[in-house]
Amino acid sequence: MIDQGPGETSQEDAARIEVATIDDLDAIMTLERTCLGGEWSPRSWSDDVVHGQSAGAGVSRRWVGVIRYDGRAVAVSDLALAAETADILRVAVLPSFRRRGWARALLEGGLAWAARHGGETCLLEVEAGNDAAIALYEAMGFAEIARRGEYYGPGRDALVMSRPITLEAGQAADDNEERGIG
Ligand SMILES: CC(C)(COP(=O)(O)OP(=O)(O)OC[C@H]1O[C@@H](n2cnc3c(N)ncnc32)[C@H](O)[C@@H]1OP(=O)(O)O)[C@@H](O)C(=O)NCCC(=O)NCCS
Repeated sequence: MIDQGPGETSQEDAARIEVATIDDLDAIMTLERTCLGGEWSPRSWSDDVVHGQSAGAGVSRRWVGVIRYDGRAVAVSDLALAAETADILRVAVLPSFRRRGWARALLEGGLAWAARHGGETCLLEVEAGNDAAIALYEAMGFAEIARRGEYYGPGRDALVMSRPITLEAGQAADDNEERGIG
């Protein structure tokens, strides 16, 4: 259960982080097109969802988490883990569901999963002008470690950000395990 502020509806209180299934693919593609520029194909997402559902094995692991509202995914994140390094590949929340703490909750769920599988550091790339995403990552303790000039095209730099995956994430992992996440 995600902690909600006072005055929010009971339906919102019912929002939960869950591992995505292939049945979420249509909703995830709506998120991809609406929020992320539509670069990833259904095949890219379905590969990660399937890979994420067998999260135990393999050199590179995936975790695709969703928050569903009225049965449909309205927020998604995709993390990869190779050895001790996790990467946030995707995170998106439909516009009408933003500023409820759902992106943060999803990413914390992903970091908890990474902690449980030996993750020590989390990296991400974000466009330098994406103020909302940068604010989210900074609020979660990420710090800029590099800048990649024109990574996304002319005049569009990428920031590389990093944070340690802490013992608190491991604790959250234990909580998540109780909730069936991971
Ligand atoms: C970035 C994004 C995922 C944030 O989702 P969200 O659910 O609104 O974020 P949260 O509610 O979890 O925000 C947590 C904290 O991040 C910061 N934050 C998030 N969005 C912010 C914004 N627009 N302006 C300022 N701070 C913001 C705040 O500190 C916020 O805490 P607060 O609401 O208590 O002030 C969402 O805006 C989105 O989908 N954007 C398009 C996709 C995208 O850019 N993804 C990242 C690509 S790298």
